[in-house]
Amino acid sequence: MAWNNQSVITEFILQGLSSSWELQMVYFLFFSVVYAATVLGNLLIVLTIVSERRLHSPMYFLLGNLSFIDMSLASFATPKMIADFFREPKVISFDGCITQIFFLHLLGGVEIVLLISMSFDRYVAICKPLRYLTIMNRRVCLGLVTLSWIVGIFHAMSQLAFTVNLPFCGPNEVDSFFCDLPLVIKLACVDTFILGVFMISTSGMIALVCFILLVISYSVILVTVRQRSSGGSSKALSTCSAHFTVVTLFFGPCIFIYVWPFTNFPIDKVLSVFYTIFTPLLNPVIYTLRNKDVKDSMRKFSSRVLKSSKIDHSP
Ligand SMILES: *[C@@H]1O[C@H](CO)[C@@H](O)[C@H](O)[C@H]1NC(C)=O
Repeated sequence: MAWNNQSVITEFILQGLSSSWELQMVYFLFFSVVYAATVLGNLLIVLTIVSERRLHSPMYFLLGNLSFIDMSLASFATPKMIADFFREPKVISFDGCITQIFFLHLLGGVEIVLLISMSFDRYVAICKPLRYLTIMNRRVCLGLVTLSWIVGIFHAMSQLAFTVNLPFCGPNEVDSFFCDLPLVIKLACVDTFILGVFMISTSGMIALVCFILLVISYSVILVTVRQRSSGGSSKALSTCSAHFTVVTLFFGPCIFIYVWPFTNFPIDKVLSVFYTIFTPLLNPVIYTLRNKDVKDSMRKFSSRVLKSSKIDHSP
C-alpha cells in the first residue's frame, strides 16, 4: 500500500526511434507502407486458408492462426508509433503502457506455442507420414490452438502481476517506441533485481529453451529427409527451411533482449523493430513466395473475390 502512495507517475514518455525530424518523416513513410503490407498480406493468408478447401489441412490451419497472431502483433504498437512520428513528446498513459506489455507477451506466448506446434506438425508429416492424419486430427489441431492461447494468457498475466504494482516516481522516459517490459521495469523506484531475474527465467529462458527444442526438432526432420531420397524431399526441405527462418527471426531478437534485461544495448531498439514489425511482415512473404499451393489458392481466391464484387456492383 505504501508503494501505491509513492506512485506518482501517470504517464510515460516514449523516446521513439529517432529524434531527428527528417528521419522521422522517412520512417513515417517507410513504416506506414510496411504496416499496410503486413496487415494486408496476413489478412489475405487468413482469408485464403479459411475459404479454400484444398488448404484445409493441419499445417495450413496453424499457418492461418499464425498469420492472425502476426497481424495482431504488428498492430499492438505500430499504429501508435506511426502516429507518434508527428508528436513531441510521445506520451503514453500508464494503462496504455501496461496494455502494450500485456499484448506483447500474450501474442508472443501464443506465437511461440504455434511455432512449436508447426514444427511438431512437420515432424509427424515427415517422420511418421503414415500416421499423419490420425495423429494430427481436427481435435489435436484445435487443442494446440487452444493451448497456445492458454499459455499466452498465463504468461502475460504472470508478467503483469509483478509490474502493475511497481512504484514509479522518478524518470519516466522509455527508450523505445513502445513499452517493453525490461525498459519499464528499469524505471521503477525500487530495486528490481528480483523482478529482472524473474523476467529472465520466465521470458528469456523459456524463449531460449523453446528455440533450442525447435532447432533440435528441425534437425531431426532434416536428417530424416536426407536419409530418404524420395521425390517429395526437396519440397519438405523448402517448407522446413521456411519455417525455420521464421523461427530464427522471431526468437533471435526476443532472446537477445530478454536474456540480458539488465543491460541495455543500443541495438535493442532495432531488435524490437524486428519482433514487432519485420517478423510479422516476413512470415507471409516467406510462406507464400516459397509455397506453390498457397500461391495458387491465393490467386484463385482473389479472382473469385474480384468476380463476385463485379457481380455485386452491376445493376
Ligand atoms: C485456427 O485453427 C483452428 C483449429 O485448427 C481452425 O479451426 C481455424 O480455422 C484456424 N484459423 C485460421 C484463421 O486459420
